[in-house]
Amino acid sequence: MKIGILGTGMVGTTIGSKLVALGHHVTLGSREAGNEKGAAWAAKAGANASHGTFATAAAEAEVLFNCTNGGSSVAAIEAAGAANVRGKVLVDVANPLDFSRGMPPTLLVANNDSLGERIQKAFPEAKVVKALNTVNCEIMVNPGRLSGDTDTFVCGNDADAKARVAEILRGFGWKSVVDLGDITAARGVEAYLLLWIRMMGAVGTPHFNVKIVR
Ligand SMILES: NC(=O)c1ccc[n+]([C@@H]2O[C@H](COP(=O)([O-])OP(=O)(O)OC[C@H]3O[C@@H](n4cnc5c(N)ncnc54)[C@H](OP(=O)(O)O)[C@@H]3O)[C@@H](O)[C@H]2O)c1
Repeated sequence: MKIGILGTGMVGTTIGSKLVALGHHVTLGSREAGNEKGAAWAAKAGANASHGTFATAAAEAEVLFNCTNGGSSVAAIEAAGAANVRGKVLVDVANPLDFSRGMPPTLLVANNDSLGERIQKAFPEAKVVKALNTVNCEIMVNPGRLSGDTDTFVCGNDADAKARVAEILRGFGWKSVVDLGDITAARGVEAYLLLWIRMMGAVGTPHFNVKIVR
């Protein structure tokens, strides 16, 4: 499958490398075509990896991942082009964190709105699925490194898009993908970051996750 990743940070490159390893063709996108991190990643990741602008990454892709800074995600997708995201599954892993007043961060949007919803509203023809934002990127693509099975979440308005994303997540090694409902559930998984950051401090590693015990 052709997959476009918006974002050249640790999340975009980690997910990109995993997708290439699984046999997909991946283009990483950034603001500038000559972005150093994108070029370095593509040079290392192999023949099925390339890089370019946000628009290049989105144009040919069947599925897109938003791995940009949460405060800039809508701008990044605008740069990718509304026509290039139309009708496509857009996996939103971003968190709307504001570090401008130091640690711990606050949320740029919360309570009765979320970044996932803002993206869906700004790009109504994209099929936005919020996923993977509740774990560190190394766990996103390798949940098996944890000592037990844990849960990951999806939410979004399109059932087929969520099923497609769940299949990708199973390919990453996730055994339990919990569907939380429509895109308004992004309010919960984004606000969970406030707890996640405190838990990271308490357990002393970003490599952990939660499990729902009934
Ligand atoms: N770190 C984790 O393990 C983790 C876990 C869960 C969720 N997340 C979320 O995943 C996302 C990516 O995290 P990250 O640490 O890999 O990267 P990041 O540093 O948060 O974001 C990097 C990307 O954002 C783009 N960007 C920054 N400012 C922009 C602007 N003004 N307009 C358009 N694009 C802009 C950059 O574009 P250029 O390429 O052009 O520089 C770059 O591609 C974040 O939302 C983060 O909260 C992270």
